[in-house]
Amino acid sequence: MSTHLLALQDFTRAQLLSFIDRALVLKEERISGTFHQHLAGRTLCLLFEKPSTRTRVSFESAMYGMGGQVIFMSAKETQLDRGEPLKDTARVLARYTDALVVRTFGQEVVDELSKYSSVPVVNALTDLHHPCQILSDVMTVIEKKGTLENLKIVWLGDGNNMANSWIQAASVLGFSLTLACPEGYEPDPGLLQTAREKAQQPITVLHDPVEAVSDADVINVDVWASMGQEDEAEKRLSIFEPYQLNSDLLARAKRDAVVLHCLPAHRGEEITEEVLEGSQSVAFDQAENKMHMHKAILELLINGGV
Ligand code: CP
Ligand code: NVA
Repeated sequence: MSTHLLALQDFTRAQLLSFIDRALVLKEERISGTFHQHLAGRTLCLLFEKPSTRTRVSFESAMYGMGGQVIFMSAKETQLDRGEPLKDTARVLARYTDALVVRTFGQEVVDELSKYSSVPVVNALTDLHHPCQILSDVMTVIEKKGTLENLKIVWLGDGNNMANSWIQAASVLGFSLTLACPEGYEPDPGLLQTAREKAQQPITVLHDPVEAVSDADVINVDVWASMGQEDEAEKRLSIFEPYQLNSDLLARAKRDAVVLHCLPAHRGEEITEEVLEGSQSVAFDQAENKMHMHKAILELLINGGV
């Protein structure tokens, strides 16, 4: 049976660490000039219903970089847009390809595809989760800090798909997480409760951004209005304004704190130009790590080993 990557809570700590460890090895190997053909003869299908720069290109580059082939499909150009059921689409695509990487709105879409697909289905962002992103973000934290232990890791802003996947990562991997979100924009309560039941370390949700950022080692920010929430963007500007990561707020964190942003960034909204381009920002290393992580994910899911 295929292993699907739909949400981080579906995996054990050892499994999540195997993705991260493998990505770190693949990154080192690439830097030293070692190239693999571990996915030669394999084909990846990307099925995207929302825009993407990083996730699309890093998955494509990862697949080509391991000797495989890629077929990209905008969901709008498929028969899905004319009403073909997901269960038929999944069974057909699985006969042509070796994995499906899907970016869509509802988590139920990737869940349904995974039920009918005989090849791995990978969640490349839904409204509820962004698991591959958080795997590469955790990898980035390990690279920069050497550990996940005894760190104050902070999520600042909307309790969105990224926040949800950070919560699940904290729960499964066993690190503590502090979130600061405006009232009414907290993470999914059911997901939070399930994560806390399994967690070995506290997962704390605050409303005060200053309290959250104080003495932080790692600060994560993301857009205030996610894809699909464009009509709320204007209203959110004033609600989220206290959560902007600017130099004053960053000064509350530890002097060696690192700033993560999954990108794309809205400079002057969730983060200032000065902070994003400043010495504490690791956003572009983080973006690079998506490719190494996606290699690890594809290799371990297609060839087995997770
Ligand atoms: N971080 C991220 O998922 O970026 P894209 O939307 O460009 O894929
Ligand atoms: N929360 C953002 C992440 C983009 C990579 C969104 O869903 O649009």
